[in-house]
Amino acid sequence: MKSKDFLSIADLGREDIRLLIANAIDMKAEGWSSLLSNKVLVLMFEKPSLRTRVSFEIAMRQLGGHCLYLSPDEVRLGKRESVPDAARVLSRYANAIVARTFSHQTLEILADHADIPVINALSDLEHPCQALADLLTIYENKETLEGITLAYIGDGNNVAHSLMLAASLCGMHFRIASPRDYQVQEQILQLAQDFAAGSGSEIYCTEEPRLAVTDADVVYTDVWASMGQENEADQRHQVFTGYQVNDELLSLARQDAILMHPLPAHHGEEIAENILYSPQSVAFDQAENRMHAQKALLAEILGGLEIPLSNLQ
Ligand code: CP
Ligand code: NVA
Repeated sequence: MKSKDFLSIADLGREDIRLLIANAIDMKAEGWSSLLSNKVLVLMFEKPSLRTRVSFEIAMRQLGGHCLYLSPDEVRLGKRESVPDAARVLSRYANAIVARTFSHQTLEILADHADIPVINALSDLEHPCQALADLLTIYENKETLEGITLAYIGDGNNVAHSLMLAASLCGMHFRIASPRDYQVQEQILQLAQDFAAGSGSEIYCTEEPRLAVTDADVVYTDVWASMGQENEADQRHQVFTGYQVNDELLSLARQDAILMHPLPAHHGEEIAENILYSPQSVAFDQAENRMHAQKALLAEILGGLEIPLSNLQ
């Protein structure tokens, strides 16, 4: 990995990703081990979570390590205690910090002042652990990442940013359809285009969902209002009408296309009622794969596991 921390999916190179997916596949088959038996992970969250918290806690237990969860009210980062001081204190107790923050800058300050690795468990800018599990899920279904076309429909948010960077690193084609004022950030698009130039992936941004989805291998969506944007939900609902992934839109994708969502889902908004339970949906595999992908990540960050347990074909 490029740094001690995992704040962005761009902290990984293409070879790191290949290695993590290979190890995640092996760990998924193997289950429990004692690789991290003397390690402690602190989870410090400013926002709620089901998947991220539970998958990290169980991943750590399955690797023989320990976890400690600090809820938003307990720490009150930047209010009860400064972010640098929290980083310094936790560095005296734990082996790594997994943090979910509102501002991405909070993560950067944490990482700058912590002697131990900091892992991004979602910020306003990125959700790299989700992207890692998504790549694993796509690989399991398509047996390759290179040349696969992913169409993302909806808000150009944290999930979209990490996916766009992940795709461009791995030679996947990435199409995104978002309303004009809700597109991905320019600096992320620029970075993705730089990666794409080296990997052969193509990036296409549009306001028209049908253009993005036509003949895609993967159709992906996420909520229209992310955590922290609840007061914009009504206005966003109006702007995003027409960006719902439903049977009609999905029928434009390849016949063997898979449907992805990071969850939690707002049924009847970004995703039509019941479509998450269709045979094309892999949303619950994605949720499961959070744990396997994070086991591979923790093994690398805390266990120094750099040699692939097996090789991807
Ligand atoms: N997908 C995801 O990160 O879910 P949680 O917010 O429940 O952790
Ligand atoms: N974009 C969503 C993802 C939740 C997993 C959010 O930030 O709330």
